[in-house]
Amino acid sequence: MPTYRVESRQGGYPVVVERGVLARTADWLPPKAGQLFVVSTADVWRHKGAELERALGSVPHQVLYLPGGEEHKRLQPVEELAERMVELGGDRSSVVLAFGGGIVNDMAGFLAAIFMRGIPVVQAPTTLLAQVDASIGGKTGVNLVSGKNLVGSFHPPAAVLIDPALLDSLPEREYRAGLYEIVKAGIIRDAALFAYLAESRAAVLAREAGAVDRIIADSVRMKVEVVSADEREGDLRRILNFGHTFGHALEAHTRYTRFLHGEAVAWGMRAAIHLGQMAGYCSAEDSLDMLDLIGSYGPVPPLDGIYADDLIARLVHDKKTVQGKVHFVLPVRVGEVTVASEVDPATVREAIRSALA
Ligand SMILES: NC(=O)c1ccc[n+]([C@@H]2O[C@H](COP(=O)([O-])OP(=O)(O)OC[C@H]3O[C@@H](n4cnc5c(N)ncnc54)[C@H](O)[C@@H]3O)[C@@H](O)[C@H]2O)c1
Repeated sequence: MPTYRVESRQGGYPVVVERGVLARTADWLPPKAGQLFVVSTADVWRHKGAELERALGSVPHQVLYLPGGEEHKRLQPVEELAERMVELGGDRSSVVLAFGGGIVNDMAGFLAAIFMRGIPVVQAPTTLLAQVDASIGGKTGVNLVSGKNLVGSFHPPAAVLIDPALLDSLPEREYRAGLYEIVKAGIIRDAALFAYLAESRAAVLAREAGAVDRIIADSVRMKVEVVSADEREGDLRRILNFGHTFGHALEAHTRYTRFLHGEAVAWGMRAAIHLGQMAGYCSAEDSLDMLDLIGSYGPVPPLDGIYADDLIARLVHDKKTVQGKVHFVLPVRVGEVTVASEVDPATVREAIRSALA
């Protein structure tokens, strides 16, 4: 399986996609590294800690735990772990190994970004969503009460190790939530991946190794290309936000408790597809193909009791909103999207209503 390279202003880094790569974790630690701090959650450690322990063998390390759950993705646990690292003798030569889902990737990455003004982090993602999205691109951070990921930093990892075999213990709902990010990759930039997802739904949902490895590799390649071309989200990287503007509004409105991130993105993509068609960017036929594919990887939790106006009020607080203007990533056809900033608010309301219906 492939190794990709992300180009970054702070030096490039490898993204290895390989079944069993976890066993070779020690090979990817930065040379001359000091203390190694593995940051995980109790839940991930229960499932996969023994495998990582075997992989690290004689490499000395300390395991530190973050609390799981989006509601705990806050500054305080990061500060507590930083204090703990100092107590344990951590210094500027220390290294963080982030071992968990997207929440661990983001929080441990942020810890590494700010500990002693920055130490290296190796990302070893354990959820599908983190393997195809959160671990690549160097975005790290935590939530504020006022919104998601509002405090953070760009901190490119030293390496990303993606082992699809780690997904065998992932709960079904989490697996499907990750699949929506892969559907997103197909819609925004990879028509062949989109077609494969439509044709091979049964193999993908049954987690057949060949199917899982292929869709992970395709999505990773797409993300590597995009973030290498535009690390700081000045231009191309914005396409990765397809479905996220509406999705974040839905997550915030339901206080991060009702939908998994990928599920909120699934709903957000539906809203963006309706908007793309209503605003004249995308044909009815292509819109239907996209809505069908999203539907076929469902179900997502119901949207009962959520109204268009609740979500519209939240759109302006999204951090992608610039000087009050909401930028929407809208489909043009399967494999191509565009960024639109002058969309009629009445059409936005109509599109949200259609997606909620
Ligand atoms: N930095 C980025 O570019 C970026 C991109 C996308 C998403 N994110 C962030 O990622 C987060 C969501 O990540 P997520 O969906 O991975 O959620 P998560 O980190 O909460 O993990 C989901 C659940 O799966 C469990 N789990 C993890 N690995 C497992 C395994 N191998 N076996 C069994 N259980 C396992 C976890 O304990 C957790 O309960 C959000 O906070 C989102 O903002 C960041």
